[in-house]
Amino acid sequence: FSFDAESEAQISKVLARYPEAKKASATIPLLYVVQRQMGRTTGSAWVPNVAMDEIAKRLGVAPIRVYEVATFYFMFNMKPIGKHHLQLCGTTPCMLRGSDDVMRACHDAAHVKVGQTSSDGLFTLTEVECLGACVNAPVLQVDDDYYEDLDYDRTVALIEALKRGERPKPGSTIGRQTSAPEGGPL
Ligand code: FES
Repeated sequence: FSFDAESEAQISKVLARYPEAKKASATIPLLYVVQRQMGRTTGSAWVPNVAMDEIAKRLGVAPIRVYEVATFYFMFNMKPIGKHHLQLCGTTPCMLRGSDDVMRACHDAAHVKVGQTSSDGLFTLTEVECLGACVNAPVLQVDDDYYEDLDYDRTVALIEALKRGERPKPGSTIGRQTSAPEGGPL
């Protein structure tokens, strides 16, 4: 596995945050770098074993130290996924505010069921626990963006836009104050 120029720049930035003796603390950010590079270059954001081996080399740790972190957190995909990862919150506040309708919209518009990838390779659907944006429930995470205040029709519209290659503005879909940052942790 080799990192591309964009990833190398991100790695330098990440490693600069940690003392040499504590480089292992950069494991999670480097896993994100890999997952994003895979998404950018192959259309499927996941973390291959060879990339974890490369991270281990860069951080001077045994590969098992990287594997155990990558497999503990659900946000790292250990096998290829669709172009867009739809992660629907199914926790109580979102459930009470209509996550079932959002789920139905994912079935109808993206033609995908939980745990599966659509036959056109565009969408993988996962049900997840609280995404930390309950104030604007129900919430659907699309790749690194959070879409809030969804209902059936707004979810269908979002998915249709993604199919056209558009990326609607993240946050509340009815213009309420957004509660989640754009663009993830890097
Ligand atoms: Fe869905 Fe918190 S319960 S974001």
